Amino acid sequence: MKILIRGAKIVNSDKIFDADILINSGKIVRVKKGISDKADKIIDARGKYVFPGFVDIHTHLRTPGREDEEDILSGSKAAAHGGFTTICCMPNTDPCIDNEGLVRWIIDESKKIGIVDIYPVGAITKNREGKELSNFSAMAKAGCLALSDDGDSVKNSLLLRRALEYAKMCGLLIISHCEDKDLSAGGSIRESFVSSKYGIRAVSDISESVIVYRDIALAEYVGARLHLAHISSKRSIDIIREAKKTFSQLSCETAPHYLTLTVEDVERNKFHGNFKVNPPLGEQYDLEAVRGALKEGTIDCIATDHAPHSPAEKELPFEQAPPGFIGLETAFSLAYTYLVKDGILDLRNIAEKLSFNPVKILGLEKRGVIKEGFLADITIVDLEKEWTVEPKKILSKSKNTPFMGRSLKGTVEYTIHKGRIVYKND
Ligand code: DOR
Repeated sequence: MKILIRGAKIVNSDKIFDADILINSGKIVRVKKGISDKADKIIDARGKYVFPGFVDIHTHLRTPGREDEEDILSGSKAAAHGGFTTICCMPNTDPCIDNEGLVRWIIDESKKIGIVDIYPVGAITKNREGKELSNFSAMAKAGCLALSDDGDSVKNSLLLRRALEYAKMCGLLIISHCEDKDLSAGGSIRESFVSSKYGIRAVSDISESVIVYRDIALAEYVGARLHLAHISSKRSIDIIREAKKTFSQLSCETAPHYLTLTVEDVERNKFHGNFKVNPPLGEQYDLEAVRGALKEGTIDCIATDHAPHSPAEKELPFEQAPPGFIGLETAFSLAYTYLVKDGILDLRNIAEKLSFNPVKILGLEKRGVIKEGFLADITIVDLEKEWTVEPKKILSKSKNTPFMGRSLKGTVEYTIHKGRIVYKND
């Protein structure tokens, strides 16, 4: 199938330029002005912006185990709706993705569905229990690029050191969930004026940054690649900025909610479970630090931490509700509405944070840039259109987003994965 995208404004991480794009057999075969070849399908992209397909390092697909909340098909559709063409799914499932069989199963199923590429992130320790390492080399052979005990850090420092050594041998990336659960002490909101006012058990930012510090120290000592998940606090950013001066194999992500919401939003929304997330939403100074760190490059990418939860569980009292927000379908629009329009990032930065950098961190090839010879993974957006986040527009099985009812600028018009249109905004 040949697709010709006409009149595009192409946004790569290094430049924005006008050109047509010719796609054939899943690849970008030509990028230049005035392509006149015949094609099976012509997309008129005049007035639209064309990005390399977005790549999410941090998605929860809830399968196996909680297919009432999400599964490979619904998660793939949600990803395509959000402009993502590659996602990595986390292993905090039941059973846990800690073995080659489950890694293979997810990859095979996602290929059968064929909407986006899915790379499972295997667990570092068996059943994420923090006791015994899982079989890294078998999972790497089965197709894993990264490992994480997301939801928990690896509490035992010796085990983490061994994990980093083993991961280095297998060419795997370790993704750290930075949280000292003893320091968190079952808290459900950020330690702040709000938590004191209501007497809610709270989590200090030191719970995140103490593990940020330890995991960086160990990874640098071992010389292993380390990626820090969902960074939320100024305290952590200050440590990461300093560490990056000497440790080049370090990367980190933040999520759209840490760029747009604070603990005050939890209070304003009457402690509804849809405002509970882990790490918890921070203070205004954290939000500003996260924005600044993204702009200066201390934070490498935006990851969604798409975390579907059932309405019954999110309706529980705040302290009992599970943490997490869905995020695949709102990430781009939130970034455009609150970062680009506010002058914090420009469009090239969006291509960098949602596409180029995650590709680089994961070590993927031939994606993340619109370029001849690369995969035809492409996201076409309309920056003039506005949409309101409503349950009926969300393709994920779960609707737990703190942005429900918000009007956002920027819609995904087409998502093309390996030369096939996998989402079209009708
Ligand atoms: O808020 C969160 N939800 N943070 C995590 O680390 C895990 C995630 C989930 O799986 O629901």
